[in-house]
Amino acid sequence: MPNNVFYAGIDLGTSRTSIATSTGKHASTMTCVGYPKDIISRKRFNRDYLIGDNALENRLSLDMIWPLADGVICEDEKSLETTRLILKHIIAEVFPEKQETDEIYIAIGVPAQASITNKKAIIEITKDFIDKILIVSEAFSVAYSIDRFDECLIVDIGAGTTDLCRMHGSIPDIEDQATLNIAGNFLDNELMQAILKKFPDVQLTPQIIKRIKEKHGYVADISAPVRVTLTKLGIPTEYDITDILGDCCLKLTNPISKAIQEMVGTFDPDFQERLRNNIVIAGGGSRLKGIDLAIERSLCKYGGGDATSVQDAEYCGCLGALKMCVEMPEEYWEKI
Ligand SMILES: Nc1ncnc2c1ncn2[C@@H]1O[C@H](COP(=O)(O)OP(=O)(O)OP(=O)(O)O)[C@@H](O)[C@H]1O
Ligand SMILES: [Mg+2]
Repeated sequence: MPNNVFYAGIDLGTSRTSIATSTGKHASTMTCVGYPKDIISRKRFNRDYLIGDNALENRLSLDMIWPLADGVICEDEKSLETTRLILKHIIAEVFPEKQETDEIYIAIGVPAQASITNKKAIIEITKDFIDKILIVSEAFSVAYSIDRFDECLIVDIGAGTTDLCRMHGSIPDIEDQATLNIAGNFLDNELMQAILKKFPDVQLTPQIIKRIKEKHGYVADISAPVRVTLTKLGIPTEYDITDILGDCCLKLTNPISKAIQEMVGTFDPDFQERLRNNIVIAGGGSRLKGIDLAIERSLCKYGGGDATSVQDAEYCGCLGALKMCVEMPEEYWEKI
């Protein structure tokens, strides 16, 4: 019987991994694995590990591993194994009908630094369940998904890193890409410290902070007052965090705006205007209210600019990878 070929695009992010297939399916999971802490938690789950959201929900009895925390995969055995489990799991989830003789072709977008540093390792850990692989930077897969190959600047604000990628009608070079270690996780951290500084006794966890940020985060000049309910020794009270939230969000967008200016400033002068008028903001961070305007404002001293946020921040990366997977000619694929 002839082999079937299954195509998919994956966005392997620091915080979330998503997949989209040529058969129209998609799935997404947190990029983490939890291993039982002790004999009791092993008994409770009766498994060697839990993956993604499932692990996160049960994190109190698990040792959690986030293999991409710093925008690259640490190449120790545990991180590689964890990455392998996540990829294998998400692929199996969308292709349950796959038979032994079928083949799987995957294009995978990873943080820019990982696409340089970890290419070999990714090929190695996936070789028994992926038959053909293409590894690109996440920002490039975003450009691909929205068909932007002309002069434009993709700014992918993720969890661990913000990746910038300058497009100019051909495959971007290393000097067209830049990575900042300032992104969603950084903002969470700033927010946690700032809230504790003003209200020292409130009880906070990374999950609480993330929820507040994702619901209320903004970088506009004005915002309706942001009041959140937090607990002190278990007793809930309302706190006004409007100023804290606004200041912290600016701490995220200021360095990003600076990096954008650098990317524009070092581009071919004949095309700088086109570049700064075509800034595309993607990634989870693009959902901060007012971020497009804030970035436009920071470009004023460079002669202005035009920034828009992508429509589908969650799936845009993996949809671009899928498109690449279906369209890329043979010579671009890694040999396995
Ligand atoms: N509505 C929102 N407002 C602000 N931030 C948000 C919002 N929704 C998600 N985020 C943040 O976006 C980040 C995740 O973005 P994304 O899923 O693009 O990251 P990733 O691709 O996993 O990470 P990376 O690109 O660094 O590898 C998290 O820090 C998350 O809290
Ligand atoms: Mg990302």
